[in-house]
Amino acid sequence: MKFRKLAILLLIVTVMALLAVGCGQSQTAEKGKPEQAQPQPSEKPKESTEKPKESAAQVVTLSSSDQPQGCASCHVKNGDKDYTLAAEVKKIQNHPTVPADATVKTCIACHSEKSPKPFKWVLHKVHLESKIYGSKYDSACVTCHKLTSTGLLTVKGLEADGTKFTDIKSTNEDKAPQGCASCHVKKGDKDYTLAAEVKKIQNHPTVSPNATVKTCIACHSEKSPKPFKQVLHLVHLQGKIYPQNYLNSCVNCHIQTPTGEMKVKGL
Ligand code: HEC
Ligand code: HEC
Ligand code: HEC
Ligand code: HEC
Ligand code: HEC
Ligand code: HEC
Repeated sequence: MKFRKLAILLLIVTVMALLAVGCGQSQTAEKGKPEQAQPQPSEKPKESTEKPKESAAQVVTLSSSDQPQGCASCHVKNGDKDYTLAAEVKKIQNHPTVPADATVKTCIACHSEKSPKPFKWVLHKVHLESKIYGSKYDSACVTCHKLTSTGLLTVKGLEADGTKFTDIKSTNEDKAPQGCASCHVKKGDKDYTLAAEVKKIQNHPTVSPNATVKTCIACHSEKSPKPFKQVLHLVHLQGKIYPQNYLNSCVNCHIQTPTGEMKVKGL
């Protein structure tokens, strides 16, 4: 609570300072960058987007239904500015031309997981580490990813027909630098270790008391009957405590490597 108040105070002070300096210059930074199709009421004033994230301490809460079409919600024509995906790739050297109405499905044909430039590596960095996206959307994940009722986080526009979704609100605050190991610990007489958590699951094989996520993934790999990519999301993102105490943040578990890969902490 104390932290919140301080953050709000900081925000007010900085916005006031920026207003005093003059707000003309902040507009130029948005040049040549896609705008969101429908402005969100929760959007910060443009002045405050200029601040580095640390000092801003702003936490942007987004709903997975805020940009219902993912790429297509943001990459649109806006007045005389063309932010469509086709226009974006025109700026990339040597890029093959794509149809003017290209969607993410057009892109993924060439940028699949097995291609030399898979989207799972190419797209994260340019968004999450960019000035505009970083400040305007607080490097959010649910602009592009959506939780299915079976626990997967598919990319909007790439889901199979008939997929059912569960809306979640999410922020991007990292309260768990060690991932699972930051939260699943002993606290006083309460045992939240991973070994203790699985003891509560019916018929679960026993694991060593100091099991880590590496122990789990041996049995819960992508190819197993209960892959972690499907098992873990719902229990956290739709749980009782996680949405409240950890604001459904993705980056408590996920981390981006310097090359743009999106890993699970500890794996
Ligand atoms: C919430 C809005 C939003 C969504 C959703 C979004 N983008 Fe972007 N995109 C941006 C912004 C903002 C930038 C400009 C980043 C910057 O340079 O600050 C950008 C930049 C880009 C670029 C240019 C990168 C470069 O090297 O200059 C490409 C290509 C792109 N996006 C593709 C996509 C694709 C494909 C999707 C869907 C899978 C997508 N975007 C979803 C807002 C969005
Ligand atoms: C016909 C195949 C094809 C299609 C369709 C395609 N791409 Fe590409 N893309 C490529 C190739 C090939 C490169 C590498 C270009 C080079 O570096 O010579 C590339 C490179 C890129 C890069 C730069 C990657 C990097 O970091 O070096 C981005 C970003 C990109 N494409 C985005 C898109 C988007 C967005 C779409 C959909 C609108 C799309 N591509 C559709 C073939 C394709
Ligand atoms: C601009 C859109 C966009 C944003 C924002 C975004 N992703 Fe992704 N993500 C993608 C796309 C596209 C793929 C590749 C999907 C495919 O190949 O089918 C992907 C793939 C992934 C993967 C699978 C990687 C792998 O190696 O298999 C993970 C994990 C992931 N994203 C997590 C995140 C997290 C966590 C965030 C927020 C910190 C995030 N993403 C933000 C578009 C995005
Ligand atoms: C030796 C293999 C093995 C290891 C190691 C393992 N699991 Fe499991 N896990 C299973 C099996 C088998 C099931 C299915 C149990 C059943 O339903 O009969 C399961 C089920 C689960 C489930 C319930 C899935 C669902 O929705 O039905 C969770 C959650 C889970 N494991 C978490 C973990 C965690 C966390 C770890 C690491 C501490 C872990 N597991 C380590 C084999 C393993
Ligand atoms: C930021 C804190 C945090 C992180 C990081 C975290 N968890 Fe959890 N976990 C929770 C909370 C809180 C719950 C209780 C769920 C609820 O009701 O919200 C939980 C519940 C669980 C459960 C019990 C599910 C059930 O069926 O009762 C398992 C198993 C689990 N987590 C495994 C993991 C694994 C494995 C990782 C790392 C990949 C992880 N957790 C990362 C906070 C965390
Ligand atoms: C409790 C930890 C935890 C949280 C919170 C979490 N994830 Fe994951 N996620 C995982 C694990 C573990 C995997 C499986 C990794 C593996 O198999 O190597 C995974 C896999 C994924 C994948 C890859 C799925 C695929 O089909 O390949 C995507 C995309 C993803 N997560 C996105 C997200 C997004 C977006 C959020 C936030 C809305 C999020 N995750 C929150 C632990 C988490």
